[in-house]
Amino acid sequence: MAQEDIFKKLVAHCKEYGYVFQSSEIYDGLGAVYDYGQNGVELKNNIKKYWWDSMVLLHENVVGIDSAIFMHPTIWKASGHVDAFNDPLIDNKDSKKRYRADVLIEEQLAKYEEKMDKEVAKAQKRFGDAFDEKQFRETNPRVLANQEKWNALHARFSDALNASDLAELKQIIEDEGIVCPISGSRNWTDVRQFNLMFSTDMGSTADGALKIYLRPETAQGIFVNYLNVQKTGRMKLPFGIAQIGKAFRNEIVARQFIFRMREFEQMEMQFFVKPGTELDWFDKWKETRINWHRALGFGDENYRFHVHEKLAHYANAAVDVEYKFPFGFKEVEGIHSRTDFDLSQHQKYSGKKIQYFDPELGESYVPYVVETSIGVDRMFLQVVAASYCEEEVESNGKKDTRVVMKLPPVLAPVKLAVMPLVKKDGLPEKAREIIDDLKFDFNCQYDEKDSIGKRYRRQDAIGTPFCVTVDHQTLEDQTVTIRFRDTMEQERVAIAELKNMIADQVSFKKLFAKLK
Ligand code: GAP
Repeated sequence: MAQEDIFKKLVAHCKEYGYVFQSSEIYDGLGAVYDYGQNGVELKNNIKKYWWDSMVLLHENVVGIDSAIFMHPTIWKASGHVDAFNDPLIDNKDSKKRYRADVLIEEQLAKYEEKMDKEVAKAQKRFGDAFDEKQFRETNPRVLANQEKWNALHARFSDALNASDLAELKQIIEDEGIVCPISGSRNWTDVRQFNLMFSTDMGSTADGALKIYLRPETAQGIFVNYLNVQKTGRMKLPFGIAQIGKAFRNEIVARQFIFRMREFEQMEMQFFVKPGTELDWFDKWKETRINWHRALGFGDENYRFHVHEKLAHYANAAVDVEYKFPFGFKEVEGIHSRTDFDLSQHQKYSGKKIQYFDPELGESYVPYVVETSIGVDRMFLQVVAASYCEEEVESNGKKDTRVVMKLPPVLAPVKLAVMPLVKKDGLPEKAREIIDDLKFDFNCQYDEKDSIGKRYRRQDAIGTPFCVTVDHQTLEDQTVTIRFRDTMEQERVAIAELKNMIADQVSFKKLFAKLK
């Protein structure tokens, strides 16, 4: 099945099983804004716990805060967001659709990559084990021609971005013959800059109202609290401040479900270091963060680093952690060495000294910062995309397809479903008794409707790792059947063993042990 079709199915599945709903759906929805349903919120909370604990519990020198969304408007002037938080936009005059000029060009680059990959795949099929991919890529004329086009476009694109040359971006789109996917035409407007911040008024009278912004990143709430935390926590450099919270961006192109939203949540950590040591810390955090992703077991080959072509105005190094989504490798997390830009700017604009007194050097300086920044929603999409499976199975001697979310058990919204085989003979009461015993440890679900087979499928679709069936034998010997989601195998176990068995599989501690 084409990756695009799988993605469509995933989106439908998220709605059908209470993971993600379109915001304001009964009013026909609101663009790029989503709500999380009863299962979605549990998965989201588990992702947040994995991140928060891995930062704040596992690092003695990282503490958390929760700053307000509304902040003094000068903060956004100081941070550069008022003047420079822009995306280059272009409109197609025929379809009246708006695009990001840089994204159109990136998609064109991806097309050249796809063409090369197709040639490689074809040759691989033809030559089998004897195939030497490196040699093929270096000698095949069609691959070389596409590589040359890719190199030329890439160089031109980087130069245009670095020079913020909007006319050149338009020229590239024209020279590459890029068409609007809706109208199919090349009838483009000029490229313009578009500021992504939402604003609103604070205060009751029109005259006295203050124009404030909905924060486009949580990081600034950390920077402006640097002194508060450092002093009250008696923190010594190097140390970090972590925060999880909402951020808002008026995205021009909001596509691909919850990948790019207008209201989303970020998990950010700013690590304050001595100037000159920031690039070592940058490397350390790169490693720490890629290990965090890999520990979930979705396959190391599905992650890669992407080094930024154009550095943001505040950075001296930056990489993205990318995951192979059904629509290609895309950014999940950014790791940035932000220098002393933000603290220095806040020092300048607020007139307050924002420095660290280094007892070893006997002098004060503005610390440098390494930031790790990941979107909760994007991580959520990564987890569900990696977990969604359609499998051929045998059911009552017939071939059938089951849809199963192979979520890491530690992140699964519901850990176990308890099911009485029939709705009589004291089996429902026994099932409730088991839930009453386990519900303080795990999120449990009671399910008595339909056949056991249908109930298993329903739980597979949610991603519940364990199903426990209570039958007549249970009443006699206090044993139940436990069925494992991924293997579909079943085992007879004592009720008394359930807690330890499940706890071992859904333990955060076990996951954290992999991060060492
Ligand atoms: N403080 C740095 C910062 O905000 P960013 O690369 O713009 O950097 C960091 O954003 C992360 O936030 C991204 O890697 C992505 O996971 C998430 N993110 C950014 N914009 C988003 C959007 N419109 N919708 C969902 N997630 C987004």
